[in-house]
Amino acid sequence: MSGGGLVLLLSGPNLNLLGEREPEVYGTATLEDHVAAATAAAGEHGLTLEHAQSNHEGDLVEAVQGARGRAVAIIVNAGALSHTSWSLHDALAAFDGVVVELHLSNPAAREPFRHTSTIAPVADGCIAGFGGLGYPLAVEAVSRILAGRP
Ligand code: DQA
Repeated sequence: MSGGGLVLLLSGPNLNLLGEREPEVYGTATLEDHVAAATAAAGEHGLTLEHAQSNHEGDLVEAVQGARGRAVAIIVNAGALSHTSWSLHDALAAFDGVVVELHLSNPAAREPFRHTSTIAPVADGCIAGFGGLGYPLAVEAVSRILAGRP
């Protein structure tokens, strides 16, 4: 158990299409399924999970800003914005809680444009390549970091 607190799970562009979108890469579970798994894991760790998805970079920046002083951690799968968004990088840099970068696939094993992450420099760590298992793993990582035993 951790000391509790709010965890913001942020989902970027096209993740609303999970289940239909390239199932051979991203699996057949929907975003709703992943949020449910993360919510259940958060409950087991005494945390509360809030989820937001947007296809718009500015919405995600505002969600990160809105987490300041309110959330203890942000778990972020920013989709393709993970490879391009310096505004999301800067917003996360101004958030003083735990940041976990999350991907269903393993971007390092895919096309070269996915090998760069603008999130990585401002994240405590990254969970990638484990499909939907990454969602509860990310929550567990947050809980353990908050408890001081990563
Ligand atoms: C992704 C990986 C990104 O490269 C891609 O643009 C996505 C999903 C993942 O979860 O594997 O939209 O973040």
